[in-house]
Amino acid sequence: MRDHIQFLLNGEAVTERHLDPTMTVLQYLRERRMQTGTKEGCAEGDCGACTVVLSELVDGKVRSRSVNACILFMGTLDGKEIRTVESLGTPDAPHEIQQLVAEKHVSQCGFCTPGIVMSLTALQASGTQKTKENIGEALAGNLCRCTGYGPIIDAAMAMTTDTNTNDTSAELSALRHDETVELSANVYGIEKRLYDPKTLDQLTRLITEHPIATLLAGGTDIGLWVTKHHKTLNKIIYLGNVEALNTIIEDDDVLNIGAGIKYADAINQLGALYPHMNTVMRRIGAAQVRNLGTIGGNIANGSPIGDMPPLLIAADAKLVLHSKEDERTIPLQDYFIDYGQQDLRTGEFVKSIIIPKPRTSQNYYAYKISKRFESDISAVCMAMSFDLVNGICSNVRIAYGGMAATPKRAEAAEIILEGHNWSEENVRKAMAVLTSDFTPIDDMRASKNYRMQVAQNLILKAWLEQQSDAPLHVLGADI
Ligand SMILES: Cc1cc2nc3c(=O)[nH]c(=O)nc-3n(C[C@H](O)[C@H](O)[C@H](O)COP(=O)(O)OP(=O)(O)OC[C@H]3O[C@@H](n4cnc5c(N)ncnc54)[C@H](O)[C@@H]3O)c2cc1C
Ligand code: FES
Ligand code: FES
Repeated sequence: MRDHIQFLLNGEAVTERHLDPTMTVLQYLRERRMQTGTKEGCAEGDCGACTVVLSELVDGKVRSRSVNACILFMGTLDGKEIRTVESLGTPDAPHEIQQLVAEKHVSQCGFCTPGIVMSLTALQASGTQKTKENIGEALAGNLCRCTGYGPIIDAAMAMTTDTNTNDTSAELSALRHDETVELSANVYGIEKRLYDPKTLDQLTRLITEHPIATLLAGGTDIGLWVTKHHKTLNKIIYLGNVEALNTIIEDDDVLNIGAGIKYADAINQLGALYPHMNTVMRRIGAAQVRNLGTIGGNIANGSPIGDMPPLLIAADAKLVLHSKEDERTIPLQDYFIDYGQQDLRTGEFVKSIIIPKPRTSQNYYAYKISKRFESDISAVCMAMSFDLVNGICSNVRIAYGGMAATPKRAEAAEIILEGHNWSEENVRKAMAVLTSDFTPIDDMRASKNYRMQVAQNLILKAWLEQQSDAPLHVLGADI
């Protein structure tokens, strides 16, 4: 077992031991390193002021992505590289993006500017085509309250495609190893410990030895427990470097997605099978959140308003749960027992999610309703799947988030359609019986009446879309 982490900070190799594993990268940069270019706005992953670039070796190549330093724990950095705005140019020799930011008047108060520059740096490093849509997607997690996005987009459009000469593959490769890291520190009298296993065996052993440890994946939920709820996490097991959890296996019938797969890594493959899934996944958080957050975390947290559970329940996904004693596979919907209660035994963790590929007769629709297009939690999320042969529906699955204490299927509505005509009359009957499937609540996101009405209308929307053969989910239309 190793007692330290090693990572690159702006190209320089750093070793840290006896470091609080839940210290955020933002705190570390500003308070330990005095690198104050990275700003703190919200400390909850929403504003992008703290954006830095996180690089990792993937298939021997450096992959660089924007992430929020305010919710990223230092204990997760072993073998990775962080680049901050300090790594770019100097006032006398600015980096191309900094030069463009000045020339195109991108900055007024300047508070958001380092974060915007780093999101653009990640976009440039990714080699993504510079379309307005891709630029908008890269910047959706960077809130600017003064400049307005016109000049920011102008600067992004003027960037050359790849001035990224930052190839640190040799240095990152030298940091690779197969040992579990145990990073520990005594923080004001409190012992804190993070284990970072690399294999399924190491992970299973650790969970058996420390059954009450917090399992940490992308940290986009857990980060906020620390920064917003000031929770102390004494013992953490980090899942991010366990290869078996970070692999997608595809065969003729299914995609088997490791629980640690990030949204950004699954969005294209899932979207190729179910285009509507892609449309909703692009609206989960913003790029920085999708670059860290995992599909397994979105399920495991048991939230009634997570977006992936309804999408995957409608697709008839199964969950693989693994422990030292056993590995079992359950229908995803059975995982959610009640609010805050999931079918997860002590010593067990979510290993993967099995998603069947669509049948030729299968129709699949999914919609997210929230107040903003990106970076907003759903008021209601709905996904609906059914086979249509000679006008008759079968295998009907309609799943909702935001309508009950757990993600849940609309069984009464499904019965109306199962084995019956796909007709407007039956669709309207299915809409009507939703009131026996759900008793939604009033909260700050939506009233119960709004939730019910919109949930009903989403079935109608699927009907209209299926009839028109043209997607009704054009930008902004779902909001
Ligand atoms: C700014 C912002 C915007 C967001 N927007 C959205 C949104 O639009 N839609 C949405 O659905 N969510 C959203 N979220 C919530 C969050 O991003 C997701 O729930 C995310 O998928 C959680 O995954 P994670 O890997 O970050 O989980 P973590 O924070 O690491 O863990 C979450 C929980 O799951 C448990 N866990 C994780 N992996 C496993 C495993 N393999 N086995 C057992 N337990 C496990 C952890 O112990 C913890 O209890 C947002 C979050 C932020 C900060
Ligand atoms: S400080 Fe707002 S996203 Fe990190
Ligand atoms: S320039 Fe002031 S917040 Fe963007």
